[in-house]
Amino acid sequence: MAGAESSEHLFKVLVIGELGVGKTSIIKRYVHQLFSQHYRATIGVDFALKVIHWDQRTLVRLQLWDIAGQERFGNMTRVYYKEAVGAFVVFDVTRGSTFEAVSKWKNDLDSKVHLPNGGPIPAVLLANKCDQMKEMSSQNFSHLDQFCKESGFVGWFETSAKDNINIDDAARSLIENILSNYKTFPAEENDVGIVRLDQAAPPAESKSQCC
Ligand code: GTP
Ligand code: MG
Repeated sequence: MAGAESSEHLFKVLVIGELGVGKTSIIKRYVHQLFSQHYRATIGVDFALKVIHWDQRTLVRLQLWDIAGQERFGNMTRVYYKEAVGAFVVFDVTRGSTFEAVSKWKNDLDSKVHLPNGGPIPAVLLANKCDQMKEMSSQNFSHLDQFCKESGFVGWFETSAKDNINIDDAARSLIENILSNYKTFPAEENDVGIVRLDQAAPPAESKSQCC
């Protein structure tokens, strides 16, 4: 279309939280529309790619880094977090201890990765397995608004990977925040995996010398 600028982005997004909270299940639901009751712990890190036609002119590729819950006790997270531009922090609504660990994950994140201006990368809190507490109303989570403000989350969602609740909405909210940061810092820092051919190519006059 004449005059219409189109853009493509590749955003690295982390999915972190305690063991067994449903990180892999959320990603599988979001990317492949699948769910399994079977638990197989992630070892190290797994990857998934979700392509989103954000609007007529914008294509977003989300590179999802599914980080094993047990990594909080290791020291690999600095390596995994590098160049991430957004994160989901997940807890399991049926296990209070996983909520208590949310702050530890958020602090780990904020200490190891930053926006180009030094601020924290946008993070969305996911209260997962909400299908298991249908009888309770979401008023139980009213304290999460305040918690998010205090802890620097851009928002929170009750989710269920099993019943496919709110996962698309949560992703949309995170992408909105990432895109608005991108507009503020349109430098290459916000896109991962871009090869700068202008910098990578050798100077035109240099000649290969063989002997
Ligand atoms: P680690 O890789 O060990 O860090 O765990 P994880 O966070 O990736 O958890 P995973 O997705 O493997 O899920 C753990 C267990 O919870 C599995 O048995 C899933 O079937 C179950 N599970 C995940 N999400 C949901 C959900 O929304 N509702 C219900 N009822 N069960 C879920
Ligand atoms: Mg996993």
